[in-house]
Amino acid sequence: MNLDKDFKPGAGKSYFVLNYGCQMNESDAEHYAGQLEDLGYAKADDFHNADVIVVNTCCVRESAEKRILGKIGELKRVKENHPGQVICVAGCMAQKDGEKLIKKHPQIDLLIGTAHVNSFKEILADFIAAKGGRVYDDMAIPDSEFEGNRVRQSGFSAWIPIMYGCNNFCTYCIVPYVRGRERSRSIENIVEEVEQAVANGYKEFTLLGQNVNSYGKDFGEKGMFAKLLRRVNEVPGVERIRYMTSHPRDMGEDVIRAVAECEHVCENFHIPFQAGSSRILKLMNRGYTREQYLDLVAMIRRYVPDAAITTDIIVGFPCETEEDFEDTLSLVKEVGFDAAYTFIYSKRSGTPAAKMEGQVPLDVKKARLNRLMEVQNVNSLARNREMVGKTYEVLAEGPSANNPNVWSGRTRTNKLVLWPTEGREFKSGQKVNVKIETAQTWLVKGQAE
Ligand code: 5AD
Ligand code: SF4
Repeated sequence: MNLDKDFKPGAGKSYFVLNYGCQMNESDAEHYAGQLEDLGYAKADDFHNADVIVVNTCCVRESAEKRILGKIGELKRVKENHPGQVICVAGCMAQKDGEKLIKKHPQIDLLIGTAHVNSFKEILADFIAAKGGRVYDDMAIPDSEFEGNRVRQSGFSAWIPIMYGCNNFCTYCIVPYVRGRERSRSIENIVEEVEQAVANGYKEFTLLGQNVNSYGKDFGEKGMFAKLLRRVNEVPGVERIRYMTSHPRDMGEDVIRAVAECEHVCENFHIPFQAGSSRILKLMNRGYTREQYLDLVAMIRRYVPDAAITTDIIVGFPCETEEDFEDTLSLVKEVGFDAAYTFIYSKRSGTPAAKMEGQVPLDVKKARLNRLMEVQNVNSLARNREMVGKTYEVLAEGPSANNPNVWSGRTRTNKLVLWPTEGREFKSGQKVNVKIETAQTWLVKGQAE
């Protein structure tokens, strides 16, 4: 359907987006909200009473899926109390299990595949024009996408998708199956979105992709991600640039130099290593060894000595022995990460690792996770303690939820900082210099100068 600008089936009606998963989903959720507002819907305070509910799903681990299935189940009762409510299930679970979901949960009206975020408006309008019926979108992943209207959640920090999909096929990961192959947005398109956001008062930009270091490879060119960082760095008004996620195999010296040399690119490297044993890394199809990862960390430290380095780690991948796990512990100690996101391996059917022999029992995985978190917590605290006595540029976010007299914000290295307002006024997106006085595992506290 070709939509007329004045077609407003949502006038006087409301919507709510229930979002789960990664930053790419947060970004997509903003596009769902933008298109709903284009159609005249207004944001509801609560999903129960909304006329349209979008559940934007994640399937990266079973725990996420279970939580979301619980919510979809709950919506059956919610809808019984609101005849005519439209329930849309979008995102990675819709892409993976759409047919199954729609059979099992009759309350679902629409399924939106991961590559159809920007067609949502037309799909919903078609559904409304058909006045019901279980219309749902086809799940094919088209080659290219554009970026339509969005309602940004933050007033100063903007998600900027630079590419979609993933070509890596790590053996544990479902993402390539639900997000398709890598497709990059053009530099012009990206820069235009950044410029528009600057004009609307945005200061911080997070460039998003499942593997940002591969940006532009599909154009047949190398070194494009470093070029993109340098180009965005030149956009007047941009104050901070972040990006995620990086793949250690594809993270080159050119990108590290761009971070070192570009004024606005933040000194924070999120480089998931996943496992410390080269044997497990091979089974994961990660494309690097423990030694190569450590060389990469050394290069980062050489070019950007003050960088914060963070990572993702999986414990209990099939065949992981106690010795392999100890390699993970020793790598964590050796690098001294600023923070780590730690996960228990979750079997994702359809991925090669799900069929591997030697699945690790859950109690062993849980025990390993606890040991790993203990080691990393020591690192996090030690790294945060190094900040005490120094002053950092903090981008203010807002008052803390339980105390309006305490504000929070982030350093360029992405550390969470709290400070008392002492009666002073602060604005979200304002730069504040904070002298750090105390450190905890997850945050630091100080005084604004
Ligand atoms: N089990 C556990 N963790 C996983 N991740 C991805 N797939 C799985 C899985 N099957 C983790 C990886 C990735 C992060 C986003 O989620 O560590 O970097
Ligand atoms: Fe979850 Fe991965 Fe989909 Fe993000 S891309 S929502 S992490 S499955």
